[in-house]
Amino acid sequence: MKKLLLGILALGAVSSCNSDNITNQSEDLSNTQESSGLVKRGCPSEEIRQEALKNSPELRQKFATLETNTEKFANDLKLGKVLADGTVEIPVVVNVLYNTTAENVSDARIAEQIAVLNEDFTATNSDISKIPSEFQTVSAGDTKIKFRLVNTIRKKTTTKSWRTNDAMKKASSGGIDATNPTNYFNMWVVGKMTSQGRTILGYATFPESAGLWNDGVVIAAPFFGKTGASSPFNLGRTATHEVGHYLNLRHIWGDANCGNDLVTDTPTQTTANYGKPTYPLYNTCTGVQRSVMFMNYMDYVDDGAMFMFSGGQKTRMQSVVASSGVRAGLRVY
Ligand code: ARG
Ligand code: ZN
Ligand code: CA
Repeated sequence: MKKLLLGILALGAVSSCNSDNITNQSEDLSNTQESSGLVKRGCPSEEIRQEALKNSPELRQKFATLETNTEKFANDLKLGKVLADGTVEIPVVVNVLYNTTAENVSDARIAEQIAVLNEDFTATNSDISKIPSEFQTVSAGDTKIKFRLVNTIRKKTTTKSWRTNDAMKKASSGGIDATNPTNYFNMWVVGKMTSQGRTILGYATFPESAGLWNDGVVIAAPFFGKTGASSPFNLGRTATHEVGHYLNLRHIWGDANCGNDLVTDTPTQTTANYGKPTYPLYNTCTGVQRSVMFMNYMDYVDDGAMFMFSGGQKTRMQSVVASSGVRAGLRVY
């Protein structure tokens, strides 16, 4: 109940996401923006779900239930009732919508992206050793969640630029229909994506959308995989970030100034970080100064500057894929 209340409070606070009135503390910000050609990155997933929740009592009900289950699972885990030692392997369908041949990402590049997900979710990524010692104790380690590509669907399109309106997920609007979203994790790769004139790297649905026609993750081709991808977002971490959302993770700053990400082992931070911040980076929230975990996958830093999930984030993700979880249908048989 307490968690639920926090969740609802967090929902009410997301209107400040993407607001420009907070001074960013990263020195690298202007450089990064220039070199990447992006004005300011924004992730619209939270706003999109907020709209969807507003319009659907059914979604709100599913959201409430999943937060209750999340709390129950965390408690069971603490009591030793659930031994989460079995890795869950999630079957993945990649849906590629391409206009140019460059956007028709190769099988090799898709394999590369799946490999990045598997490395990041099992903490076998090569940059894991960069975790500062103060955060090593709360590092997730192996989340026991893995991914396996089971199908790739390709479709040539005349659409050159997509919006974040889910059109790519419906054949009737020029997209590709999801493959059975209860049992398969659907990823869509589109050539280019914008929201209000800004380049969008990707967006995700959260677990209250489990099994719905639009359930899954969308990633723009320049930020998908590694080979041929666009620096500084060319290490496949956009997918890691978006899959984090798909498995119920919020942005680490809680989409508000000193917001709540519903995870206790991620230090409260004032806002999103960009570029490659220098460690340590201190933020003050409610009078307490903390070194913040900007190297977390759920921040906005460059691909090369993010390399960890926390233990609390692992618990939330496991809750979703557990047998009692809302995404329990995702299993490779
Ligand atoms: N949805 C976010 C955006 O469009 C994704 C950010 C991912 N971060 C990254 N380093 N790849 O900006
Ligand atoms: Zn995001
Ligand atoms: Ca936190």
